[in-house]
Amino acid sequence: MIRIIEPRFSEEEKEAILRVLESQQITRGEFTKRFQEEFAHYLGVEYVFTVCSGTVALFIALKAIGVEGQRVVVPALSFMATIDAVYLAGGIPVVVDVDDYYTMDVQQLEDAVKKYRPKVVIPVHLYGQMADMESIMFLSEKYGFYVLEDAAQAHGASFKGKKAGAWGHIAAFSFYASKNVPMGEGGAVVTNDSNLAREVRKWIDFGDHPAFNVRITEFQAAIGTVQLKHLDERNRRRREIARKYASALDINGHLIHPSEREGAYHVFHLYTLRHPMRDKIIEVLKEREIDARVYYPYLLSELRKAEHLPLPRAERFKRELFSIPVHPYLTDREVDYIVESLASVVACV
Ligand SMILES: Cc1ncc(COP(=O)(O)O)c(C=O)c1O
Repeated sequence: MIRIIEPRFSEEEKEAILRVLESQQITRGEFTKRFQEEFAHYLGVEYVFTVCSGTVALFIALKAIGVEGQRVVVPALSFMATIDAVYLAGGIPVVVDVDDYYTMDVQQLEDAVKKYRPKVVIPVHLYGQMADMESIMFLSEKYGFYVLEDAAQAHGASFKGKKAGAWGHIAAFSFYASKNVPMGEGGAVVTNDSNLAREVRKWIDFGDHPAFNVRITEFQAAIGTVQLKHLDERNRRRREIARKYASALDINGHLIHPSEREGAYHVFHLYTLRHPMRDKIIEVLKEREIDARVYYPYLLSELRKAEHLPLPRAERFKRELFSIPVHPYLTDREVDYIVESLASVVACV
């Protein structure tokens, strides 16, 4: 089976892990410090705090802002952690529709902001492409809300030359095994705001109020440091594969490929298409040993019974979306095989 997502490690990670062991310091050491510095430099942000998961990163970012009893806007399409973190932090989510790039619909966001006066808005850079952060930051200035980027799927993505994680007041990353920078488990809260950074620190270093231990180990940081070094070249490979997929033949014209927003650099965490017969397509691809899956088979509003605006796009997309393998370790032969299989499947469904 050609796996949909596949982290891969080499001698470099092995050596890094050995260095951790030899250092006799397996947590709170040089590797974590170094990863934080290098990731901050890579993103172009001031502060990076590694934590144990993306979900915890979102939770701490929301706690740092303070959302108890306050409205928080999230898009309908995302992994459940985006909305779960809002509930866990004591916020009240409001769900809005997505645009044709599967990210937060900016027009509807403004409607939601006028109606609910949220304290925070969480754009999700879904599948590796950034939301329209320029418009979202404009609305943030106009109405005075915080922007927390959910960049769990967007390491290295950018919009108008600025990286995911560097646009909002604060951002959350995940380093879960499937992500573009995998550590096994892990996450980071990143910000340029010294006040927010001070609040974030209280959740990490124990002190002012009850808090969890959310640290990563030196092993995770060591793997992350090696993976980060290769991020750009692997993202380029993902884009190259995506370009080949985009040329897959579709004689019936029902297949909708992902498109890149003007000014955006998509890093294809996932290659997500749409087709009215997607269940059949997935079935046939699986018979051909190609893993295809639905990200996500739910809308956040229905999953957690949250308040929402009308969601016509997300409702339709949910029935049509499917993702195919796009990880950077696919061989050219595998890519050709996937293109060929996809073309022949859509020709007969
Ligand atoms: C969009 C999004 N947000 C948040 C998360 C949560 O990250 P984690 O699994 O590291 O808790 C993930 C990934 O799993 C994700 O894809």
